[in-house]
Amino acid sequence: MASAASSTAPVVSKVKGATHGVAPLRAGQGISFVLRRLHSLSGIVPVGAFLFEHILISNSTAITGPDAYARQVSFLANLPLVFFLELFGIWLPILFHALYGFYIWYRGDSNVGEYPWTGNWMYTAQRWTGGIAFIYIVWHTYTMRFTGIDLHAYPNASFGKVQAEVFYTPFFLFYVVGLIAASWHFAYGIWLFSAKWGIVSGEKAQKRFLAVCLGLFLVLTGAGLASLTSFRSRPQQSVEPGTTVTNNQQFSGIR
Ligand code: HEM
Repeated sequence: MASAASSTAPVVSKVKGATHGVAPLRAGQGISFVLRRLHSLSGIVPVGAFLFEHILISNSTAITGPDAYARQVSFLANLPLVFFLELFGIWLPILFHALYGFYIWYRGDSNVGEYPWTGNWMYTAQRWTGGIAFIYIVWHTYTMRFTGIDLHAYPNASFGKVQAEVFYTPFFLFYVVGLIAASWHFAYGIWLFSAKWGIVSGEKAQKRFLAVCLGLFLVLTGAGLASLTSFRSRPQQSVEPGTTVTNNQQFSGIR
């Protein structure tokens, strides 16, 4: 590993009155500069935008109930060229952001011991929450999209399929950990992005914006937990092809 922290590790200025925060993105050498910018941007669009939609819009419909959730899944599944939307709008950008994120992590030392400032803990948390979110995302995509009943073909089975997972307590806890990690990573990532691209500058403005980002973290986590509670608190819905949600056999299956 390189001995110095990467160029975007939090910088603590020892000069009195100087602004605390992350180093801005600077023009580096050729391709690495472009990749660094793309990594930063991809965290907001499309990956962050997708996370926002996924937690606050699509999955929140589960709070209303199985019928509303099935309609939302059906709407998404019927978007034109949905496979290519997923491939170029979600999977490849996440893969790029994650792989380059691991590379950034590998290149820069965590300097928590060197600077007694919360920014350095945030720097480390940004890496660990990214890593945890990655493990969660791979598992979640595999189980929901590529195994079991195909929800694009049978959206009515969506509510039941999620329930079958979250009724199993170890998986439910994994959902909670994945939700908190991804929400934190994205919310603090917006702050990092704004500081690096010079959108929010000055110590006061950055502090205020940090509070806004913390608020977003709480909203994302709260909405995600409310959706998970809704799956856990309703009777198990069928996961058979062709079932209508309202005709589901119902039993309580929390394990
Ligand atoms: C839930 C999906 C994810 C979202 C929404 C997301 C979003 C973001 C955002 C908005 C940023 C701030 C951009 C910037 O630094 O300028 C960021 C930074 C970062 N992300 Fe992600 N990310 C996700 C997944 C991951 C994964 C799986 C990794 C793998 C480790 C990762 C690693 C990183 C790293 C290392 C940084 C900090 C880069 C730096 O300090 O320069 N991210 N992410």
